[in-house]
Parts: sequence; C-alpha cells; structure tokens
Amino acid sequence: MAAQNLQSVPDQPAAPQEANAGQGQGQLEADGQAYFDRVMADDSRIEPKDWMPAAYRKTLLRQISQHAHSEIIGMQPEANWISRAPSLKRKAILMAKVQDEAGHGLYLYSAAETLGQSRDQMMDDLIAGKARYSSIFNYPALTWADMGAIGWLVDGAAICNQVPLCRASYGPYGRAMVRICKEESFHQRQGFEILLELSNGTPAQKQMAQDAVNRWYAPALMMFGPPDDDSPNSKQSMAWNIKRFSNDELRSRFVGMMVEQVRVLGLTLPDSEVRFNEDTRKWEHGPLDWNEFKEVLAGRGPCNSQRLERRRQAHDDGAWVREAAASYAAKQVNKQKEYAA
Ligand SMILES: [Fe+2]
Ligand SMILES: [Fe+2]
Repeated sequence: MAAQNLQSVPDQPAAPQEANAGQGQGQLEADGQAYFDRVMADDSRIEPKDWMPAAYRKTLLRQISQHAHSEIIGMQPEANWISRAPSLKRKAILMAKVQDEAGHGLYLYSAAETLGQSRDQMMDDLIAGKARYSSIFNYPALTWADMGAIGWLVDGAAICNQVPLCRASYGPYGRAMVRICKEESFHQRQGFEILLELSNGTPAQKQMAQDAVNRWYAPALMMFGPPDDDSPNSKQSMAWNIKRFSNDELRSRFVGMMVEQVRVLGLTLPDSEVRFNEDTRKWEHGPLDWNEFKEVLAGRGPCNSQRLERRRQAHDDGAWVREAAASYAAKQVNKQKEYAA
C-alpha cells in the first residue's frame, strides 16, 4: 500500500487490505474512516491511494493549489528587478531565487494533482480569477531594497509557516515542503544580505532599506492569516495534522525572530508595540489592518489585476510549448506501441 512507503514517520498503522473487496460501499467507508482516524491518532501519514474524508481532500486541494499559485505569482515582483539588479552577482542570485520559486510551484502542483485535480484545471482557475493566492504578492516592489525586504521578511514568514508543514499528514505535501524549506532558507539569507549591504552603505541606501522594511513589515505579518478568533478552518486543519500551530502563534514566533535580526541589520521594525510578554512568554506586535488584508484578498489590492494579467499573458505565450510537449509525448507513446506490436 502507498501508506507503507515512509521515512521518519514511525508506526504507520496497517491500511485496509484487499480483503475489503466485495464488501459493501458502507463497510469500505467505515474501514477507510477507521484507518484514517488511526493515522491521525498516530500522527502518521495519508498517501494518495489511501481512503480519506472528502472534506480532508477538499481542504488539502485548496491549500496546496493556493500555495502553488502563490509561488508562481510570487515570481513576478522579483522578476521585475532581474534586469535592474545592481551587479552581475546580484542578478545571478536573484535569477536563481526566482527559478526556485517556479520549482516550488511545480512540486506543489504535482502534490495537488495526486488529490485528483489536473494542473490545467488549477491553472484555468487561477487565470480566471477564481483561485486565491497569498495576498502579499499584490504589493508592488518599488526599489532594489524591496528585493532585500521580500527575501528577509516574506521568505522569512514563509519559512515560519512552512517548516511545520514538513510534518503535514498528507505525504506528498509534507515531502514537497522539505525541499522547499531548504531553498527558502537561501532566499531569506540573500534578502538579509541585500539589506545588510544597503544598511552599511550611504545614508540614502540605508534609508532605502528602512523604507522597504517599513512597507513590507505589516503585509508579511498578515501572511500568517487572520487572527485565531477569525480563522474558522484552522481548528479542523490542526485536528487533521495539516496545520501544527495557530496563525497567531506562528506570527508571534516570526516577530521574535525579526526583532533579533533587525538589530544586526542596523534597521528598525516599524512597530513601536513589539514586546515580549513575560506572562504568556510570547512576542506581541501592534494592530494590523485586517480590512486591508480582506480587500487585497478580494482582488482589490494595489497589483491584483496586473499580476493576473501578466500570468494570463505568460500562459498564452507558453501555449506553443505545451502543444509541442504534448505532441512529442504522443509520438513517444505511438513509438512504444509500434515496438510492442
Ligand atoms: Fe517558494
Ligand atoms: Fe522563496
């Protein structure tokens, strides 16, 4: 069974066996649910061919496809700066980073496909404006320092969010996240280094770095999603071992990391209310504008239409590649049939 093929996930319960064949649908469902419940209780993994509740499948499909879309749309603000990078070295690093994001999108579309939806359908939903992606990518990248702030804050928030997802109960998602997280660490470091260099440069460069941090700080904090009391799906996702920590918990950890690192950068966070609460042992921050978050998510952010239009254009421009690949694949299949005959 697919569920047996695991690394570092001990004590996988035995999946329902073929002995079930011939039993009624109701019995199969009951066995499947019992198996699923055991996997959850043992904090083990569900694999694509295992039985899973329809709502679990739907939640994962939504989360993984949104995640894939975010990686692909997230290439745009940075790709916009590749031709304007200040040196050959910076250009090479930024290109590698943007290519990594394309790769993340591809792993995640593949993981989502194992849940039964085609990549074509997911892409159609994205370019039709029906699918969501992370609101952060609807903000503009105005200066070179934004490449630093995006790497440091946005990829930094992504790491906080995604490291726990390496243990997600759905096997293909968890495994995709392991590789993605390794690459995100490089992304954050390259962003940090851009800011460090600017911060130690001329007063105007330091100001540019501070301005970028000021603009990206709040949207990065909002990447963790709405506050816990306004996040209705979180509880179920945690019960299904998809999500391991609440939105507010992750946000608080992220603030704590940034407080330390911003000192090394010689910059400041644009939030006078950041403090460590000795009673709760958690980092706290100032209020965030959740109306703005909802507006951006609803498609009314500064760059929503531009991002979707660019994606549509790229999809149209790539039609010949998809046709050529499909035609080549069909030829290979025909050749194999001829050999077999
Ligand atoms: Fe990524
Ligand atoms: Fe990244």
